[in-house]
Amino acid sequence: MRTRPLKVALLGCGVVGSEVARIMTTHAADLAARVGAPVELAGVAVRRAGRPRPGVPGHLVTTDAAELVKRDDVDVVVEVIGGIEPARGLILSAFEHGASVVSANKALLAQDGAALHAAASAAGADLYYEAAVAGAIPLIRPLRESLAGDKVNRVLGIVNGTTNFILDKMDSTGAGYSEALEEATALGYAEADPTADVEGFDAAAKAAILAGIAFHTRVTAADVYREGITEVTAADIRSARQMGCVVKLLAICERSRDGRAVTARVHPAMIPLSHPLASVREAYNAVFVEAEAAGRLMFYGPGAGGSPTASAVLGDLVAVCRNKVAEATGPGESAYTELPARPMDDVVTRYHVSLDVADRAGVLAQVATVFAEHGVSIDTVRQQGRDGDASLVVVTHRATDAALSATVDKLRALDSVRDVASTMRVEGE
Ligand code: HSE
Repeated sequence: MRTRPLKVALLGCGVVGSEVARIMTTHAADLAARVGAPVELAGVAVRRAGRPRPGVPGHLVTTDAAELVKRDDVDVVVEVIGGIEPARGLILSAFEHGASVVSANKALLAQDGAALHAAASAAGADLYYEAAVAGAIPLIRPLRESLAGDKVNRVLGIVNGTTNFILDKMDSTGAGYSEALEEATALGYAEADPTADVEGFDAAAKAAILAGIAFHTRVTAADVYREGITEVTAADIRSARQMGCVVKLLAICERSRDGRAVTARVHPAMIPLSHPLASVREAYNAVFVEAEAAGRLMFYGPGAGGSPTASAVLGDLVAVCRNKVAEATGPGESAYTELPARPMDDVVTRYHVSLDVADRAGVLAQVATVFAEHGVSIDTVRQQGRDGDASLVVVTHRATDAALSATVDKLRALDSVRDVASTMRVEGE
């Protein structure tokens, strides 16, 4: 074993960072044996000094992250502060000063992954980010390395624990969205400002990262179609149950039908109870990867939390440190296919449309005509009368999203349609 230790600058000492520091200290001997050199903290950058940080020696704590990443003795920078700045500037500075980087920053990777990879490559350094997607679940490395010889066609999964918890509560208790969100907040699953989770931004960033790696191209968060769960109602959940389905917030990354592009999307969808993703409960994550030779692979586990996320960070830290010892670097960005990202309109899916209509002769025919005019074939229709009105639930066969949304726009304009109460895509069949 080489004796000069590898020095690690830890940026951020919150829920994840403090776990990274703790595991580095308590497992120091094992980590050294696995890496082939001792791995030691060079410094821990925090926003506010003076707070008690058990397990982190006080002399290592600094508020000057910019200075820490420039230090000559720093081999690896671990960034767990999140957000775009100052994280981006610090990571670029780390590369300029010769360090490799381990990051858990999905928003940054989904926005500026290409620039960060270019900076890593120019510096002859590593950029690893297993913890950016689905916490402890190994996904980035399997896609980047284990499946590097296969052709991935689809990645489909639940990549946000907070929204899965909320939807699961709505499903199991009959609660409405606000009530389930309150419970998620009280239990610490949802943050005080839950926007990033409930509006699908967090899942969209993860989908962009997964799509880029899976299809060897560049996909940013801006390329991902996004709908959150704030409009999902208790009635939607009940309606899903009547169809033998459950509602999940899905991230779906696919090759386009002609194979010349990719699509990435995040939205609530009904999936059959028989689908393995239907049994993913509470705040767990699960991702299916469909590859030509491998078939369907499923990855399941805790997608958030300090300890699970730290596990992924430590795995990357060991990999990067091993590369340092071997004076090598791991795989960099693979974006050679240059497949463009296509908009949602091109996606082929099914719709569940719930309408409040006037209950009189010819209304069903009118509604059916609108579907037919747009080339959308109806699979099932369910109607329930109610004081002169009726509630109508139409489930379609597969059609382009453009045709389905044009159909819904036209339905809204019909006099006999009082309201399009909800539309939801149906997936997983
Ligand atoms: N807030 C995320 C979730 C975890 O609820 O899954 C971090 O990505």
